[in-house]
This record gives sequence, structure tokens and C-alpha cells, in this order.
Amino acid sequence: MTPLPCSLRRLHSVDDAHIEALADILIDCVEGGASVSFMHPFTRDRAIAFWRNVAAGVASGKRALLIAEDQLGLCGTVQLIFDLPENQPHRADLAKMLVHRRARRQGLGAALMRAAECTARECGKTLLVLDAVTNGDAARLYQNLGWIRVGDIPNYALMPNGEFCSTTYFYRDLD
Ligand SMILES: CC(C)(COP(=O)(O)OP(=O)(O)OC[C@H]1O[C@@H](n2cnc3c(N)ncnc32)[C@H](O)[C@@H]1OP(=O)(O)O)[C@@H](O)C(=O)NCCC(=O)NCCS
Repeated sequence: MTPLPCSLRRLHSVDDAHIEALADILIDCVEGGASVSFMHPFTRDRAIAFWRNVAAGVASGKRALLIAEDQLGLCGTVQLIFDLPENQPHRADLAKMLVHRRARRQGLGAALMRAAECTARECGKTLLVLDAVTNGDAARLYQNLGWIRVGDIPNYALMPNGEFCSTTYFYRDLD
């Protein structure tokens, strides 16, 4: 197997340079048409504000943030959200799985998912939940990695261009 041309790590504190680089990835994904909470036109200010909020969550332990870097810099990221009701201490939501278009289809998405699962286990979590656009690239990746498809919700969200899209929920039992 060809080695991945990236290194992966968990960020325990997020500085301004990380925020700028993470904003680049988010903007690239939204410009590429990914449905990841944001609509066109998506400004850099909004991307920076989003990552500042994530940085605060990382600092307070409410989120785990993983990043991937290649020779050009930051090229992928994924998060675990721990800020859940007190009756769900054993689980986390997996969110904002983003790979820059320049780094796709090399196995980075799969590597980020495995790293996130590993981090979740290290944090004592036994159940992960996520949602993705039905039948999209990400949903296919999750299914190929063994995540269990729960079901689809039609017209759950909007694509960045305003079209409705169906969302599929998945879970992963880490026990
Ligand atoms: C979904 C996403 C994270 C996948 O990232 P990725 O790094 O391309 O993922 P991988 O490389 O692990 O796998 C993608 C495909 O490349 C293939 N692939 C992996 N390594 C490969 C290689 N060395 N050569 C050729 N193909 C390869 C995989 O088999 C997979 O194939 P498939 O499309 O037929 O399923 C990425 O497309 C993305 O960021 N999309 C926009 C944001 C988004 O929608 N995020 C999901 C939110 S739920």
C-alpha cells in the first residue's frame, strides 16, 4: 500500500495560524459544493468565526480536533464533539470531516476517520454518531469503513447553492 503523504495529529490548542489554514480548507470544501452547514456565498470572516468557536471548544475540552498536514500545509481535518447531554457520556458526534480538494482520493479521509475513532476510544467513548449527505462521497466512505447506516431524512438540509438534500445518519459501535 502506498504510504499516505500526510501526517495526522490531534491539536490540543489552536492558534491563529491553524485557524487561517483550517478556514482555507473549509472555504475550499464549501466552494466545491460540500454541504457542511454553510451556504454560498461563504466569506472568510464566517469561516474564521467558525474556527474560533471550534478553538474555544478545544480549549474547554468540549471538542477534539484532528488535523492532517502535507508538504503544502494543512490539508484535512475532523472533529469529535463531546458537548452532549449528561445521559450520553459514552458517546461523541463526529463532525466537519473536511479534506482539501488538492488532497482527496489518496486515503486521507479514511485515515482521518480511523484516527478519530482511535481518539474517541482513548477518550473513553464507545459510540460515535454522524450524518452525511445521502449517497455522497462521504456517506460512501463511512459505509466502506463499516459505519452502520441508520436511515435517511429527506430534505434535511440545503446544499450551498440552496437545493434541498437528504441526510443519512450513521453510527459506529467502538466496543
Ligand atoms: C468526503 C471526503 C472527506 C473524503 O476524503 P478523501 O480524502 O477523498 O477520502 P479517501 O481518499 O479516503 O476516499 C475517497 C475515495 O478515494 C479512493 N482512494 C483512496 N485512496 C486512493 C488511492 N491511493 N488511489 C485512488 N483512489 C483512492 C477511495 O477508495 C474512495 O473511493 P470511492 O469514491 O469510490 O468511495 C472529501 O471528499 C471531502 O472533504 N468532501 C467535502 C466535505 C464533506 O462533504 N465532508 C463530509 C461531511 S459529512
